[in-house]
Amino acid sequence: AQLDVLAKLAGKQYFGSAVDNPALADKPYVRQLTNRLDFSQLTPSNTMKWETIQPQRGVFNFTGGDEIVKLAQRNGQKVRGHTCLWHSQLAPWVEAGKFDNATLHEIIHDHCYKMVRHYRGDVGFDVSWIVSWDVVNEAFEDDGTFRKTVFYNTTGLTYFDTVFRSARAADPKAKLYINDYNLEGLGPKSDAVAALVKDLKARGVPIDGIGVQGHLILGRVPTTIKENFQRFADLGVEVAITELDIRMELPVTPEKLEQQRKDYETVIAACRAVKKCIGVTIWDYTDKYSWVPGWFEGEGAALPWDEDLKKKPAYNGIASGWLPP
Ligand code: G3I
Repeated sequence: AQLDVLAKLAGKQYFGSAVDNPALADKPYVRQLTNRLDFSQLTPSNTMKWETIQPQRGVFNFTGGDEIVKLAQRNGQKVRGHTCLWHSQLAPWVEAGKFDNATLHEIIHDHCYKMVRHYRGDVGFDVSWIVSWDVVNEAFEDDGTFRKTVFYNTTGLTYFDTVFRSARAADPKAKLYINDYNLEGLGPKSDAVAALVKDLKARGVPIDGIGVQGHLILGRVPTTIKENFQRFADLGVEVAITELDIRMELPVTPEKLEQQRKDYETVIAACRAVKKCIGVTIWDYTDKYSWVPGWFEGEGAALPWDEDLKKKPAYNGIASGWLPP
């Protein structure tokens, strides 16, 4: 059976893929992307980021995001919004850091509220097609300290309150997430996120989930994923794997592909085992459009479909991860 079918049989809400707009010109690519038996959810990997959505103050551009949401809507797929607040791919006018505390709060509210509100209804649906938002992305360093972004430097921690409240006001039905990498297993960064989420919930700040990106390395999948997901769930939030890929050093060999199959199975099985891990998104589905080779020299082949859109052993790893052991 296929990946989304198996995810649903495992009691999950979806299995999905990220997609970037330029790839939509590739017909064979789109044919597989819109195959709902494998993917019932899409995440736009670039076009809902601040530099694209609000490149200048008060100038909003929803074109790329709309294109993906409409495609998903036509195909009965859900969408994860990515992202209200991130220090990277941020518009230069915000990054310059020339706003005082009160003004930056207004800017954050305006940005997140208008984007989340737009996708709640303005693209032609009665009900939100967006099921969840990465409201805050990558707010922590790997050692668990807060990342010193323009948002942190100007507002301290109060930006969390503002941006989550803005998202909730704009779309009360969407699940609101904090999202980060190196959050798969137990460790200082997961501890820090758990502590923040606990504090936000105690203070009544609306947060519904923890997004674990899952940018992993072949043969180095953490052994404490299940335990970590369960302690996140015990905080009273849901958990999602939001950007899964497992990269390897090139060239590809049959042994590495077999290891990758096992690694994917391990990650998926951990999500399967935790009731409140509600779904998994891979960070695009084919090596043809993976971000990895552009970022890590000599590495790649991180996804379950190869560059010719053929399924790799990793596909079967995901499938068996969804099945009971
Ligand atoms: O759009 C320009 C294009 O006009 C230009 O010609 C070209 C030349 O470099 O660059 C294009 O922009 C690139 C953009 O992707 C769109 O393809 C940027 O250089 C490139 O840096 C950017 O990379 C994205 C990366 O985030 C940036 O941080 C990746 O596609 C995207 O997959 C990646 O996604 C992030 C998540 O948002 C957050 N978690 C980590 C994940 C992987 O880095």
